[in-house]
Amino acid sequence: MTAPLLDVEALSIEFQTPSRKVRPVDGVDFAIGRNQTLGLVGESGSGKTMSSLGLLRLVPRPGRIVGGRIGFDGQDLLALSEPEMAALRGRRMAMVFQNPAYSLNPLLTIGRQLGEIVAWHERLGRADAEARVADLLGLVGIADPGARLRQFPHELSGGMKQRVCIARALLCDPWLILADEPTTNLDVTIQAQILDLLRSLKERLHTAMLLVTHDMGVVARMADRITVMYAGRVCETADARTIFRAPLHPYTIALLESVPRADRAYDRGRRETLPVIGGRLPDMTHPPAGCRFHPRCPEAIAECSRVLPLATPVAPGHVVSCIRRGSASIPVAA
Ligand SMILES: Nc1ncnc2c1ncn2[C@@H]1O[C@H](COP(=O)(O)OP(=O)(O)OP(=O)(O)O)[C@@H](O)[C@H]1O
Ligand code: SF4
Ligand SMILES: [Mg+2]
Repeated sequence: MTAPLLDVEALSIEFQTPSRKVRPVDGVDFAIGRNQTLGLVGESGSGKTMSSLGLLRLVPRPGRIVGGRIGFDGQDLLALSEPEMAALRGRRMAMVFQNPAYSLNPLLTIGRQLGEIVAWHERLGRADAEARVADLLGLVGIADPGARLRQFPHELSGGMKQRVCIARALLCDPWLILADEPTTNLDVTIQAQILDLLRSLKERLHTAMLLVTHDMGVVARMADRITVMYAGRVCETADARTIFRAPLHPYTIALLESVPRADRAYDRGRRETLPVIGGRLPDMTHPPAGCRFHPRCPEAIAECSRVLPLATPVAPGHVVSCIRRGSASIPVAA
């Protein structure tokens, strides 16, 4: 089997708050093959963004990576110097953020801000850099790229700004795109267009993608494999078909049951009620002992609060962290 492009092992990120340490990412493992899309899903606050910022070594202070390994194309990113990491960011790994309005510089034209990136990474002169930017704007479906180069971000619609952000991510032919909720702030029709664009670009350019989202509908359309996170830990990873057809972890099952499905008959005469996951994500300054999902888990037993389930392979390519599904575990300190 060929080695994955990205191989994250036991990644842990810690924040020191005034009262105690918080671990929003606690021993997270996932891998992405070349040309593959991994959907990273979970409720708000489960650690998806923090994990992807960790990959770029851009965890905001006072957070820091306190453990693990991030293998990327055979090198350990945690062992690189900051200049080596800076050279890799934007070039080999590029990010598309949730809010295109905030991720573009309002004071610079599109041509100038994207041109500077490509000039720096590829050591191109200004005219060549702008030509490259215009090519990319065309590739992401922006009409009249020459005119757009001279415009400022506020002159573009939300969908257009996100296309510019995608073009920016592609400027230096990245091997991996990290897309964090890339459609959350867009209208529904624009969301569909941006997702179609990302998928077609990924196929054309053979780029791998980490797609961070809390929307199971989005991963259903886009992902080859899915990692489900809860409260900073991985619950389950498998190929998308297995996650949707035969999920094993109680949290994955609950997440899927909370998604409206066209094939389910709802009583149209009454207000539809969808099954939801009771309770809330725990306060990460005081996470529950043992399995962090146990206070909300419909299948919890007493042992679930006494042991920490470990990510355990249950079938080829299928990893689950639940003692009731046969996962290994370690006792938690009394
Ligand atoms: N400055 C901070 N100090 C302490 N903890 C923090 C800080 N910033 C983030 N966190 C913790 O990180 C957790 C995970 O945040 P993250 O942004 O990764 O969640 P997410 O899964 O991306 O959620 P969303 O779907 O809302 O984007 C938060 O719940 C919070 O506990
Ligand atoms: S280990 Fe226990 S609490 Fe956690 S998901 Fe499995 S059954 Fe539920
Ligand atoms: Mg997030």
